[in-house]
Amino acid sequence: MNTLRLQLRFLLPLLAALLLAALAVVPLFDQLALRWFARDLNIRGTVVASALSESVADAVDADRPTRLAPLFDRTAQDERLVAIGLCSSGDRWLVRSAGFPAALSCAQARAAALREPPRFDLPSGPVHVGVYPVDAERASREVLVLLHDLSFIERRSADTRRYLLLFMLGLSLAVAAITVVVAQLSWRGWVSGMRAILRGEGIVRPLLAPPPELQPFAVEVRARLRDLEDEFRRSLGPVEDWTPERLRSLLHTQLRGDQVIVVSNREPYIHERGPDGIVVKRPASGLVTAVEPVMRACSGTWIAHGSGSADAEVSDAAGRIAVPPGHPEYTLRRVWLTAEEEQGYYYGFANEGLWPLCHVAHVRPVFRESDWEQYRRVNQRFADAVVAEAQREDPVVLVQDYHFALLPALIRARLPRATVLTFWHIPWPNPESFGICPWRREILQGMLGSTIMGFHTRYHCKNFMETVDRYLEARIEHEHSTISTGGKETLIEAYPISIEWPPPALTASWPSVAECRARVAERLALAPESVLAVGVDRFDYTKGILERLHAVERLLEKRPEWIGRFVFVQVAAPTRSSLEEYRVFQNRIADTTERINTRFGRPGYLPVHLLAQHHEHDAVNELFRAADLCVVTSLHDGMNLVCKEFVAARDDEHGVLILSRFAGAARELSQALIVNPYHVEETADALHRAATMPRAEQRERMASLRATVREHNVFRWAGLMLADAARWRLRERIEARVQRHGEA
Ligand code: G6P
Repeated sequence: MNTLRLQLRFLLPLLAALLLAALAVVPLFDQLALRWFARDLNIRGTVVASALSESVADAVDADRPTRLAPLFDRTAQDERLVAIGLCSSGDRWLVRSAGFPAALSCAQARAAALREPPRFDLPSGPVHVGVYPVDAERASREVLVLLHDLSFIERRSADTRRYLLLFMLGLSLAVAAITVVVAQLSWRGWVSGMRAILRGEGIVRPLLAPPPELQPFAVEVRARLRDLEDEFRRSLGPVEDWTPERLRSLLHTQLRGDQVIVVSNREPYIHERGPDGIVVKRPASGLVTAVEPVMRACSGTWIAHGSGSADAEVSDAAGRIAVPPGHPEYTLRRVWLTAEEEQGYYYGFANEGLWPLCHVAHVRPVFRESDWEQYRRVNQRFADAVVAEAQREDPVVLVQDYHFALLPALIRARLPRATVLTFWHIPWPNPESFGICPWRREILQGMLGSTIMGFHTRYHCKNFMETVDRYLEARIEHEHSTISTGGKETLIEAYPISIEWPPPALTASWPSVAECRARVAERLALAPESVLAVGVDRFDYTKGILERLHAVERLLEKRPEWIGRFVFVQVAAPTRSSLEEYRVFQNRIADTTERINTRFGRPGYLPVHLLAQHHEHDAVNELFRAADLCVVTSLHDGMNLVCKEFVAARDDEHGVLILSRFAGAARELSQALIVNPYHVEETADALHRAATMPRAEQRERMASLRATVREHNVFRWAGLMLADAARWRLRERIEARVQRHGEA
């Protein structure tokens, strides 16, 4: 194939040159040569005629033209001169040299001499006819007719044609050779130009713009790609709700059913051995809440740390188990970690280093060399698991969170054709804050192994791009939100995470709001007219639980009328309790709760209920439905899904949400009462406003919040990411095709 193409590139210019020579150059040259020779013969004729003129004039004057015959015979000996004749004024031959063609009359000779070229075809061959007056001064009408042989011109023309063709052949060979070389070079240039266009370089960076000769082509390719994108969007269908079905169909059409692998540290189902046998627990993790419904829709494999005491017992030899228990929809593949690995990678580097580093919640990050070693090691172990689970060379791998910053590059090294979508569930700080991490470069390089790097908000994307700009050699396209390092491009994009909007079949099974209220009131021994505020969080210092308690305390201080009526219930799921920072924090919250209860409590009234235990989803839902207001006061939060769950729980369209401006969710849920949790006074006032908000206003705000969360649900989060991945894959396929052509 290659040789054929090369031969064609060589032969085509050659043939073209030869054809040109045969059709245009040779006939043109023939005509020119004929004219040159005719001019030459005219000059020779003039010279001969003038040499003869005197003798001819004498003979004519003496009226004895026949005596010229010997002179004419001698002169006609000249190799090119065929014959000479003298024509009278009455167009009669007065004298002719020997061999003068009898077929040519005087009148014919005069007429032929006027033609261009002056030629007469005799049976013996063509002759050049020259007619010259005998004596111009005497205005004599007698003329000398000189016939020159033209066949020698034909012979010369044939010779010239032969030489010309040989010359053209040589020239064509040279042209063909040069064409092949130039074509080869410009094809490479074209291919790299094309690839640059596909990467969008030509569009945004004038310095890298395609060469001028590729500009029209670049416009064409860009237009085609835009068409493809439009087509792609259209194929997603009209703007309709994101549902599991829609996500599944996107996966099967746009990603052609490609295999989906999720990797996270926390597993969606934890098997624990209890006094009554094995129980399955759902962890308190926003990540798990969001990703699990996506996984149920997409099937595939979820790789996670097997952390439950009975996990190994219920899994197969490879650590696999089908979940959800009872009605399996996907595979959970557990990775077993040693206590040392868990300590260094999870507690140490991830939760004492990266967690406080990214949250900027005024807790010092701790970086230990030994933790970093374990972090690297565990990331490598998960990369091995991904490779083992991959059924094809190009799976879609969804890497979750800060536990796996190195994983994307490790996967890319082993499965270069995989599409790696990494989602960072926590905030990304500014470059100065991130700069204190001793392994900042390695972390950034690891993350940039991703095809798409997702954050909750544009603000976190911007921080990330600025951080890369500060610490790595990379090309950053702000306009397209891409970063290129080592010839690899990563799209940095914001995908606000969410929850699964409860389907009608589920909400129909919920106990009514009044029922929920009654149950909670009974359990907590609340007075009938109480205003119930709730907070539901992991017991984490980033959640602003202390600030919340201070606000409750300030409310009771400022507005004593609430004492006895305002009750705040804080559910705090134990988390990372073996870390000192968490233990200290949890003790502090317990102390503060006690202080407030001592200060404002009465017999039968506790202003704050601290429920520091894990609550299953139904219990949390019951609390949300029972509450008058929900308080989310994170000091810094990637998104925060608790506020969205509260909104989803309130199908009665009542209840007020107080939301920290430092949670990613505040950008979407603007109908909440937005507060700065560091400002105790402001938060206390928001508690009062929420507790006294008219029901009509509550309904209006809640209806709007519900519409937002219903539309921006978790299937949309995953759908937008997968749609971008599909678009990216399509682009890569086109690029690969162009490259293959280039190499061929
Ligand atoms: C945050 C993180 C998740 C994590 C969750 C619970 O939401 O972004 O990755 O799973 O906290 O924390 P844990 O350490 O218990 O998994």
